[in-house]
Amino acid sequence: MKANSNTLFPEGFIWGASTSAYQIEGAWNEDGKGRSIWDTFSHTPGKIYKGQNGDVASDHYHRWQEDLELIKKINLNAYRFSIAWTRILPDGAGAVNQKGLDFYERLIDRLLELGIEPFPTLFHYDLPQALQDQGGWPNRATALRFAEYADVIGRTYGDRINYWITHNEPFVTAAAGHYTGIHAPGIKDLQATLQSVHHLLLSNGLAVKALRGCIKKGARIGAAINLSPVEPASNDVKDQRAAVMFDALLNRMILDPLFFGRYPSELEPFFQMNLPGDLSGDLKIISTPMDFLGVNYYSRTVVKYDPDVPFLELVEVNPRGNEYSMMWEIYPEGLYKLLMRIKKDYNPSSILITENGVPVPEDVDFDGRIRDERRIHYLRNHILQVRRAMSDGVPIQGYFVWSLLDNFEWALGYRPRFGLIHVDFETQERIIKDSGHWFAEVAHNNSISWDLQDK
Ligand code: FCB
Repeated sequence: MKANSNTLFPEGFIWGASTSAYQIEGAWNEDGKGRSIWDTFSHTPGKIYKGQNGDVASDHYHRWQEDLELIKKINLNAYRFSIAWTRILPDGAGAVNQKGLDFYERLIDRLLELGIEPFPTLFHYDLPQALQDQGGWPNRATALRFAEYADVIGRTYGDRINYWITHNEPFVTAAAGHYTGIHAPGIKDLQATLQSVHHLLLSNGLAVKALRGCIKKGARIGAAINLSPVEPASNDVKDQRAAVMFDALLNRMILDPLFFGRYPSELEPFFQMNLPGDLSGDLKIISTPMDFLGVNYYSRTVVKYDPDVPFLELVEVNPRGNEYSMMWEIYPEGLYKLLMRIKKDYNPSSILITENGVPVPEDVDFDGRIRDERRIHYLRNHILQVRRAMSDGVPIQGYFVWSLLDNFEWALGYRPRFGLIHVDFETQERIIKDSGHWFAEVAHNNSISWDLQDK
């Protein structure tokens, strides 16, 4: 194992893995849990690959102790998970379900005993169905309910948690849930999408304020944002304009309000049109400072002008010449470019890579091993780009692999396997994959190994 200044990480670097409640927990109707929009959506015919759902998922609700032992075994010093709002407040507001609070209390306390830093995320797509029935994210009241929920959580665990994540990927909640409709609640409407964006962001600011009022001093709060460098398909000025527009939608629509309290100028008219009234008070709340930025990165986005596409007038294209996974182009350098750009344009005091990973179709070999070299290759090349950005001055404190376990990948069901740990969905047996063993070494040595040669 060679370690040099390019491969060694600063002491105390955070090495973790991420999951989310609906994707791993199962137990969808146990111990007083209320129904979320994902319970509804996944039970709606035609929405999910092969009609699958998260009723059982990786059965983490019953196997959490074994799963935490596995986290320990692969040397991680942090674990990012999400709290299911409907376990805590089955109707989204009002009566608190003690059994739900107890579940995460046991989880958090055991993590702390094992020396693993808990990174709870308050919201990872699973809105209470009761709140959806009252209008969901397009309804402003949902933002207030989120702040109340944050307050319950903060008051319960705030004495122990050092790192909080408010939202996961507000863009995806808004766009996949309300524009393309491929995620719950399955709406396809531009106005609902823009209203959702605004209320998700508002809820973030309100939740940050609520948490600050009840969590311990020094605890840090951030949000996990999906970000991707957007590039034009050619030098044609129309493609270049399309790329600027898509960057405004995908990246700046979320970051500008959070950091600067304003929407990108290209988008302002759309927000004004769909959210009548003066937004400046909301934008002030939205820009309530946070302590770190969570970056979820998977790939870059390349776009081409297309006048036939309503509203957007562009399409995403798949550039040739690079490797692809089941879901995206594999483009490690995009992570470096993105991090440099974030530093230049937003200059956050701290960044955590809160998700990065790749689905690899794989099976258990005859000797019981899972040889997912492709994932090792992906992770190594991305972590090297993280290190490169750090050398160039980007303040990155940690890196989380998506995901700890194979799990329910939303509309794609159980087909994409993202885990460092394999799950046999028939028996729920867990096996640490080769990538899990490799990442365990990285976390242990605080350095990237060169064992695997470039292919
Ligand atoms: C992200 C989501 C996460 C998972 C990965 C693959 O967009 O946050 O839940 O689906 O993609």
